[in-house]
Amino acid sequence: MDNYNIIKEIGKGSYGIVYLAKSKKSEREVIIKEVDLTSRIEKEKSKFMSGTMTENQMNQNIKKFQDIVYNEISVLQKLCNCLELQDKKCLEHMSCFIDSFKDQNKIYIVQNYIEGLTYSQFAKYLKTNYKKEDKTLKIFLLKSMIGITKSVKYIHDRGVVHLDIHDENIIVESSNNFILIDFGQACFLEEKYCLSYHTPTTEKHLIKFLKRVDLDLMGDMFQSILTIIYGRHWYRFFLGTDLEELLDSLITDEPPSLDEVIDRLEYIIKRFST
Ligand SMILES: Nc1ncnc2c1ncn2[C@@H]1O[C@H](COP(=O)(O)OP(=O)(O)OP(=O)(O)O)[C@@H](O)[C@H]1O
Ligand SMILES: [Mg+2]
Repeated sequence: MDNYNIIKEIGKGSYGIVYLAKSKKSEREVIIKEVDLTSRIEKEKSKFMSGTMTENQMNQNIKKFQDIVYNEISVLQKLCNCLELQDKKCLEHMSCFIDSFKDQNKIYIVQNYIEGLTYSQFAKYLKTNYKKEDKTLKIFLLKSMIGITKSVKYIHDRGVVHLDIHDENIIVESSNNFILIDFGQACFLEEKYCLSYHTPTTEKHLIKFLKRVDLDLMGDMFQSILTIIYGRHWYRFFLGTDLEELLDSLITDEPPSLDEVIDRLEYIIKRFST
């Protein structure tokens, strides 16, 4: 932590705390995700002490928790490393890796600070500041769906699935980028880790399935946002646009490609705007 000055706490998750901080070296604002393994280690230790688990099993489980965190670091580092940006475009779609370090039972992941609202805050803002019937509101929502789809497409095109897409894991930047954060569940499809519970024969199907999980999560998220804003019969406000059918198709067995989703949303916006 010596290289950073903590400014404040900005988030709390299942694994630990997220801080806003300033790098002493670059003076840049960053976020530091602190993952505290203590309680998990204690839990495993008590199972060992009570005799329900062998020492070997305990060590394996503890290693598994660490591996999950190191996997998050590895995905970020390979896909979007702030220190050696191979493709600056990643910054339009996801948070980038800056640094990581371990201190006792805590692992820290430093990433760029993305200024903006989480998607859930953004949706609340729209709900309170626009009338339901307002065309601008509908267009904002449709554009946000395109932005999110583009970010998911960015990572899928590079072989990564996110697997935890929801309205707290997307930040809406003022430049209207929809940034994916929290790669805690994400993985590279080509890596064994991603497919670790399966045999090679099921891998081919699993790869397709894992991408579908992301689409399913996107579909669910879009539908629940529309429900928050418009109520249960949200599709009435989009009558004649086939949005309902498009969102339904995301959560079915044969979802469209992400390119098709983007095309269809763009078409719906065009029809709204004329
Ligand atoms: N790069 C970032 N820029 C700005 N805010 C961020 C950033 N990363 C995280 N946050 C804030 O911190 C919150 C928690 O971060 P994150 O989702 O990564 O952790 P988490 O939910 O605890 O992780 P997990 O789901 O693995 O438990 C986010 O919802 C967001 O509000
Ligand atoms: Mg999260």
